[in-house]
Amino acid sequence: MAPSDRTRFAPNSAAARDIAYYLHPYTNIKAHEENGPLIINSGKGIYVYDDQGTEYIEGMAGLWCTSLGYGEERLAKAAYDQILKMSYTQGFTHRSNEKAIDLAERLISMAPAGMSKAFFTNSGSEANDTQVKIVWYYNNALGRREKKKIIARKKAYHGITLAASSLTGVEYAQKGFDVPLDRFLHVSTPHYWREGKDGESEEEFATRLAEELDALIVAEGPETVAAFIAEPVMGAGGAIPPPKTYFQKIQAVLKKHDVLFIVDEVITGFGRTGNMFACETYDLEADLISVAKALSSAYLPIGAVMMSEEIYQGLRAGGDKFGMWNTGYTYSGHPAPAAVALETLKIYEERDTIGHVRSVVPAFQDGLQRFADHPLVGEVRGVGLVGAIELTPDKAGKGVFDPAAKIAPYFAARALAHGVVLRALPSDSIAFCPPLIITEDEIAMVMERAAKALDDTWEHVQKQGLV
Ligand SMILES: Cc1ncc(COP(=O)(O)O)c(C=O)c1O
Repeated sequence: MAPSDRTRFAPNSAAARDIAYYLHPYTNIKAHEENGPLIINSGKGIYVYDDQGTEYIEGMAGLWCTSLGYGEERLAKAAYDQILKMSYTQGFTHRSNEKAIDLAERLISMAPAGMSKAFFTNSGSEANDTQVKIVWYYNNALGRREKKKIIARKKAYHGITLAASSLTGVEYAQKGFDVPLDRFLHVSTPHYWREGKDGESEEEFATRLAEELDALIVAEGPETVAAFIAEPVMGAGGAIPPPKTYFQKIQAVLKKHDVLFIVDEVITGFGRTGNMFACETYDLEADLISVAKALSSAYLPIGAVMMSEEIYQGLRAGGDKFGMWNTGYTYSGHPAPAAVALETLKIYEERDTIGHVRSVVPAFQDGLQRFADHPLVGEVRGVGLVGAIELTPDKAGKGVFDPAAKIAPYFAARALAHGVVLRALPSDSIAFCPPLIITEDEIAMVMERAAKALDDTWEHVQKQGLV
């Protein structure tokens, strides 16, 4: 039963108790009271099952995170064994555990060139929040007390803790929360199809955006700008790969003004773009990298910041001024998620998950491209095993639907009814981000079900007189 079909909930049913007690993240509170939850209780491979036993393909890998799918016994066992042996040790004041040590070593040895140390968090938000603290502390250590502003992009998603949500540039995540805080700035979204000017080539668009960044840094004063943060492929803003030459030009601007580059690989890390890190896909030279999600295939929560030797040396020098490196979470380097992350990374290697991703990418990207001619689809975009179709009422003019018409959410609801979980994102984009283990046959099923949802949505917009 789809949640919207439920008008009444039996007293003491899971749905009734959910409404009574559970304030959900990112949920319309009134609509939830009306419609109740979709309760997902089990999963196997790329499939998940709701409390009525209905099967869905998880076409979004949860929230872009369940890279190895569901029910992977090795990950469950890694958690069980570790908890039984040692359920918790802290990382503060020189304490350690062998799983955190092994994971730090493994991460640094597989990371893009230049990474030197790993710091553990519980999530992507905490990783990005920590990035801000690292950058500020680093510049304080170096005596650059003014160099604190951080530049992100409109439509970026970097999480929801206070500093992370100040980096985030999607409007819906900021409304009502009094963010961004001071010292956080946003430049244009690198989305050529939507933001490019008439007659402007993709490369010219990239040049314009790099010039915009340069002009902002100059206007603010390079001595006040500490860092620039970017997702290699924008996720929650619409699953948007970068325009050609964009990062090459952006990185030249950052180098010119001695501005650090924080790369948020929370979605793209561990194979999503067809390389272990998107830094490889787009030739990014990061000073700092955030990871989470596929680090543990979301079996247990864990994130990390990786930093260059230069940053590490700055933090080390900071000790002379400020005493210890006084930041950390109770669960930084928790042995159980660390054990699961280690096992996840072992599985990627043993099963050649990257090789598998590369082998199915053509089926995935071609499958998406088949929607390009549909009258409702303005743009099809993607890289590796992530992509989106953007819906428009006016293909030639790239128009947008009135957000109140909720066209992308309608599509996502129809997709669910046809047995695939896809996600509605801003400007009526539909994101696809399946588990990395998906096969070609399963990709074909995702596309078949999405095609039905697209036809339903086309019929709906015609009936509503929206096209
Ligand atoms: C690119 C990116 N960074 C950071 C985050 C925040 O991660 P978390 O939800 O684990 O705090 C997300 C979450 O989707 C993300 O997509």
